[in-house]
Amino acid sequence: MAGSTYGTLFKITTWGESHGAAIGVVIDGCPAGLALCEKDIQVYLDRRKPGQSKFTTARQESDHADILSGVFEGRTTGTPISILVRNQDQRSRDYGKIKDCYRPGHADYTFDAKYGFRDYRGGGRSSGRETIGRVAAGAVASKLLGQLGIKLTSYTRSIGPITIPEEEYDFSCITENKLYMPNNAYAEKASAYLEECMKNKDSSGGTIECRITGVPVGIGEPVFNKLDASLARGIMSIGAVKGVEIGDGFLTAGALGSGNNDTFFSEDGHIYKRTNHSGGTLGGLSDGCPILIRAAIKPTPSIAREQETVTRDRENTSITVTGRHDPVIVPRAVVVVESMAALTLADLLIVNMSSRLENLKRFYAE
Ligand SMILES: Cc1cc2nc3c(=O)[nH]c(=O)nc-3n(C[C@H](O)[C@H](O)[C@H](O)COP(=O)(O)O)c2cc1C
Repeated sequence: MAGSTYGTLFKITTWGESHGAAIGVVIDGCPAGLALCEKDIQVYLDRRKPGQSKFTTARQESDHADILSGVFEGRTTGTPISILVRNQDQRSRDYGKIKDCYRPGHADYTFDAKYGFRDYRGGGRSSGRETIGRVAAGAVASKLLGQLGIKLTSYTRSIGPITIPEEEYDFSCITENKLYMPNNAYAEKASAYLEECMKNKDSSGGTIECRITGVPVGIGEPVFNKLDASLARGIMSIGAVKGVEIGDGFLTAGALGSGNNDTFFSEDGHIYKRTNHSGGTLGGLSDGCPILIRAAIKPTPSIAREQETVTRDRENTSITVTGRHDPVIVPRAVVVVESMAALTLADLLIVNMSSRLENLKRFYAE
C-alpha cells in the first residue's frame, strides 16, 4: 500500500493496524537540538485516547508512547525519530461478524475491492487507531512550532445541530468538558443530544476548528503546495473528515467582494488586515493573520442499529455492529486535526527557508 508517508522535508511515515502488535510513526527531517521526551508525546496521545467518557469507545488503552530512536540526552539528534505505541485491548472476536460483510459507511468494501484481502479486525489500517502515529508526530511538530512562537488551539465547534456561536467561545474551558467545546453550557446540550443518539443506536457528526497564531507572512509553496491546499489535503486524509474550510470557507460563495475582501492598513511601518475572512492565507501563502481551519467530521459509521448490507459473496443481508465504537468521533479527532495542521506547517516552514537566495547566503556565507 503506497500512501503512508506525508511531508516534503519534515516527513512522517505512519505504520500499524488497529489489532496488530503495535502502531507508530517514523519522523525523518526533524532538526537536531529540539528538547523532546516521551511525556511531550503522551500529552497529545492522551487527548485522543479511548475510554475517556461515555461518548468515546470503551476500549481501554493506555496508548503509551515509546521513543525508540532519534533522541539522545533529551534532544533530537537529527536522525529518524521512531515512536511506537503497543496495542493492548484488542478484542478481535468483536469483529468476527463483519469478517464476511461490509459495514455501511466504513472502508470494508473499498479495501476489499482494491486489495482482494483485508484486515477486518477493527478495520486494520482504516481504523481510527491509525491516527495515533499522526498525533505522536504532531506532538513533535507542535513542539518545534512552539520554538518559533507558533501556537495551535483546537476544539469542537459543533456536534450534530448544536453549534457554539463564535461570540460565545471561551477558550479557557475547552479542557473542562469531555467534548472539548469552548463553552460548557453548549457541551451539556451536545451531551444530551449524544445520549439521544445512543438511545436510538445512532451516531453524530460535528465540526472541529483549529486556530493557529504566530505564523509569519509567506509560508506556503505555490502552486500545488499552497498553504490552504496543503492544510486541506493533510486534514482531509484523516478518516471521517468530509469537508475542510479555511476562513469563511463556503460562506464566501454567498458574499460580496466588498464584504469579503480584508482591507489593509498600515501602522508603524507594518501592514495589517482589518478583518480575516480569508482565514490567514492569501495566494496560498500565510498573510500574518491567525490561520482558521474548520473540518467537518461525519457520524461514526459503525452503529448498533440494524442496516442493510451485502456479504463478500454478493448476498443481501443486514448488519448490526456490536464492537466498541464512539457515538461521535469529533472529540477524539480534535487533536488529530491539530496534529495534521502542525505537521503541514512545520514542513512548509522548513521548506520556506530555501525561498530566497539571501537565506542561503546567510546560512552558508556567514
Ligand atoms: C479518531 C478517530 C476515531 C474513529 N473511531 C471510529 C469508530 O470507533 N468506529 C467507526 O466505525 N469509525 C471510526 N472512525 C472513522 C473511520 O476510521 C472512517 O470513517 C473509515 O475509515 C472510513 O473512511 P472515510 O470516513 O474517510 O470514508 C474514526 C476516525 C477517527 C479519525
